[in-house]
Amino acid sequence: MDAMKTALIFGASGGIGQAFTRYCQKNYDSIIVCSRDIEHLQICDKKFAANAICYEVDPTKEEQLAQLSEQLSQGNYKLSLIVNACGLLHQEGGPFPEKKIEDFDAEQFKKIIEANTIVTPLIAKHFLPLLEKGAKGLGTTGIFASLSARVGSISDNYLGGWYSYRASKAALNQIIKTLAIESSRRFKHCAILALHPGTTDTKLSKPFQENVPKGKLFSPDYSVSKMMKIIKNADLEDNGKFFAWDGQVIEW
Ligand SMILES: NC(=O)c1ccc[n+]([C@@H]2O[C@H](COP(=O)([O-])OP(=O)(O)OC[C@H]3O[C@@H](n4cnc5c(N)ncnc54)[C@H](OP(=O)(O)O)[C@@H]3O)[C@@H](O)[C@H]2O)c1
Repeated sequence: MDAMKTALIFGASGGIGQAFTRYCQKNYDSIIVCSRDIEHLQICDKKFAANAICYEVDPTKEEQLAQLSEQLSQGNYKLSLIVNACGLLHQEGGPFPEKKIEDFDAEQFKKIIEANTIVTPLIAKHFLPLLEKGAKGLGTTGIFASLSARVGSISDNYLGGWYSYRASKAALNQIIKTLAIESSRRFKHCAILALHPGTTDTKLSKPFQENVPKGKLFSPDYSVSKMMKIIKNADLEDNGKFFAWDGQVIEW
């Protein structure tokens, strides 16, 4: 039997993670969806589950990633896309992102760094070696994509605020750039991308949607359709780039 073209998605219970799951379920032979809480995945509904396998994985726990990677390496998959859609801006009940330096909280910063920064290199460590070439019609390059945010760009920082989130995404961007350099030597058929989805209507953006200009708050399905366009068109020249939802390259 031919290996199936497969997408692997982390953070699958999130607004954007769910939309990636919906898209990939229609466009890939199979999908592997990972969440810390699979009870809440729509995909686990039996009628959707035909080509999907769900794993309860906490991507901050390296031993769980290692175990899944070992399991997948023994399966008949052709992994052509890995998406990390995990992220954290605030938690229910706060604290909220900092407006001023007095709001900075070291414990909260550590949690945000763990969710926004540390997860990506851990996923790369355990799954990048399994990533193969893209499949026909889905781009020819194997893609490792991590959800970043425009506010992680240091050169684009004109407003200030949100110290922890900005810093965690800036550190993520540095990881992506560094991984791309290593990948160009070791995983020559793969491109490593950072993606900014645009302001998207999810739990993460909910408290901050009031001032979003009309037409600039995207549905998760819309932002994923734009990011998938980038992923499908990406080739090795795009390795190490930071793309906004509309295909524009964001400066680091
Ligand atoms: N929404 C926006 O406007 C927007 C804008 C710019 C960038 N982004 C980025 O897009 C990505 C997806 O965000 P979203 O809007 O879909 O947010 P969301 O609905 O809150 O989903 C985020 C997902 O991340 C995972 N997660 C949360 N806390 C975590 C932790 N402590 N450790 C590990 N995983 C954790 C959870 O997935 P599981 O429990 O399923 O594992 C959660 O469902 C994030 O990286 C975010 O920064 C979003």
